[in-house]
Amino acid sequence: MKTIGSYIRLALFVLLAYLLIEYTVETGDQSTFMVYPIAWLVFGVAVLVVVALEIAVEALNSVLYKALPEDKKLGFEASQAEESKVMLWLKETYHKMLDKKPIENEDEIILDHNYDGIKELDNNLPPWWTYLFYATIIFAVVYMVRFHIFVDYTQHEEFEMELAQAEKEIEEYKRTAKDLIDINTVTLLTDASDLTAGENIYMQNCIACHKADGGGSIGPNLTDEYWILGGGVKNVFKTISEGGRDGKGMVAWKQTLKPLEMAQVASYVISLGGTNPEGAKEPQGDLWAGNE
Ligand code: HEC
Repeated sequence: MKTIGSYIRLALFVLLAYLLIEYTVETGDQSTFMVYPIAWLVFGVAVLVVVALEIAVEALNSVLYKALPEDKKLGFEASQAEESKVMLWLKETYHKMLDKKPIENEDEIILDHNYDGIKELDNNLPPWWTYLFYATIIFAVVYMVRFHIFVDYTQHEEFEMELAQAEKEIEEYKRTAKDLIDINTVTLLTDASDLTAGENIYMQNCIACHKADGGGSIGPNLTDEYWILGGGVKNVFKTISEGGRDGKGMVAWKQTLKPLEMAQVASYVISLGGTNPEGAKEPQGDLWAGNE
């Protein structure tokens, strides 16, 4: 006993499930389904549950219907008939939009032409097509007035606007996606959280050779102004990422540490500058005159 109501209800629930997933998970401008493919699974399960519920409701309905006393059954059937009117209206509209002669009446519209036995019908244009055509005419007029007479904006301006927007988005992305940091874009991090993270990384990986205070043992002193491989955050980041000179013992950390982590530990190393720890190693390398 499928009713139109049940289809509409089903469609609404599916839509609701979709919207709930899309808008309850915060994913900025992107669709939740793009960011978390698992959302599709959740959505699929939700749809299955809704369909199962719908089937259960239908089953319940027919059980209840059977249990109705005879006089009540009539009222129920009347309401069903009411609903099938909607169906009838839909069907009629559909046929109206096609405006096709039924096959029995085709002789009314057959043309005189006879192309080697092939004959032609003179059907009306389907109204849906005609309306669409009128719509394109209206669109064209609006378009012409807006863009060719009043020149709202040109294609070139539109391109420039989109470009500016895209650049803004790229900037925004670079600012938030810190793992994109590389030797060219790295900057000195000064946030306490970044420096603490850097300190933790340093304590875990670096003290064996540079000592906890940065004074240096196997590796050079990191607290003075002399650098073998160049000072400043970019050089220090590069040394950490790519390693020192061959055979000296400073490995490339890019396999172990993420770009952001290397930027954090580089910033921490630089923050050690000028601390003059006790027993620090003699300066090695050249005086770094850079301003970072
Ligand atoms: C196995 C020992 C060892 C470990 C561990 C080590 N380093 Fe080094 N480090 C060295 C040596 C040796 C050098 C000198 C490289 C050279 O002379 O080319 C060096 C050089 C450096 C330099 C350049 C110093 C300069 O004067 O230019 C920096 C910066 C640095 N290390 C940072 C780190 C950081 C950060 C870590 C931890 C992630 C680390 N090192 C872990 C041995 C080590």
